[in-house]
Amino acid sequence: MFSEIQKVTDKAMVFLQKKALSALYIPKQKLHMAMNNTTAPKVQLLYDLCKTTFTPSGLSSSPSPQPIHKLCSLLDTFGPADVGLKEESPDDDRGHGFFGLNRVTRWAQPITYLDIHECDNFTMCIFCFPTSSVIPLHDHPGMTVFSKVLYGSMHVKAYDWVEPSCIKESQEPGCPQVRLARLAADKVLTAPCGTSILYPKTGGNLHCFTAVTPCAVLDVLAPPYREDLGRKCTYYVDYPYSAFGNGAQISNGKEEEYAWLAEIETPDDLYMRSGVYVGPSIRV
Ligand SMILES: [Fe+2]
Repeated sequence: MFSEIQKVTDKAMVFLQKKALSALYIPKQKLHMAMNNTTAPKVQLLYDLCKTTFTPSGLSSSPSPQPIHKLCSLLDTFGPADVGLKEESPDDDRGHGFFGLNRVTRWAQPITYLDIHECDNFTMCIFCFPTSSVIPLHDHPGMTVFSKVLYGSMHVKAYDWVEPSCIKESQEPGCPQVRLARLAADKVLTAPCGTSILYPKTGGNLHCFTAVTPCAVLDVLAPPYREDLGRKCTYYVDYPYSAFGNGAQISNGKEEEYAWLAEIETPDDLYMRSGVYVGPSIRV
């Protein structure tokens, strides 16, 4: 009797041991992936996610919220060190302050552009701004753009076109036409903060950046600018609604929420230089 019980107990022990070991066992391939994920730099994870998310036309016409949410969640965790940058202190800056220089002088401050990766489907890049530097109002035709402020503070003013389009002839020299746009954002983003997204027709597809302090922004653009495919960057100036407003229909909101935008040439004094990305390299 005892030996029968002993046999059953032994069998049970073997079963339990096997069960316990199988719980600990991780297939080699999965282990490799897990190790890669813990050691892969964030910028590699971002690249991998972009590669699976974007098509040559950017996001699909009716994107599900899941890939956008994933991208935002990952971008939200980025700091300057993840892309090889060191946070610049406002004390190192030139002390001009946000409104301390006139418009032309502010535009003359150099902005550094760092290219991380560009392919047919998306661009990953960084803009580093000294205090008071400005990227003037410009558009992203047919594009979705994710922007994450890595350090510092930046003022963003953004518009979307009013649809159907409302266009007027202008008397301004050099600006034959103006088109009505609605303010989508007029705010200061200070790191650490969440990721901003603009879409082809919403979220502030036309925007202007002004550095309140030294700051840097990590951008993902999908698809990239491609002039031959109709995705050209155009610059604008904005006029208050009252400048050309009479007769134009405002269906909702107040006059202060609208502006007339006129196309301009790329400003001569937009001083942007390219720098070298020194963050973790990515495997493509
Ligand atoms: Fe932009």
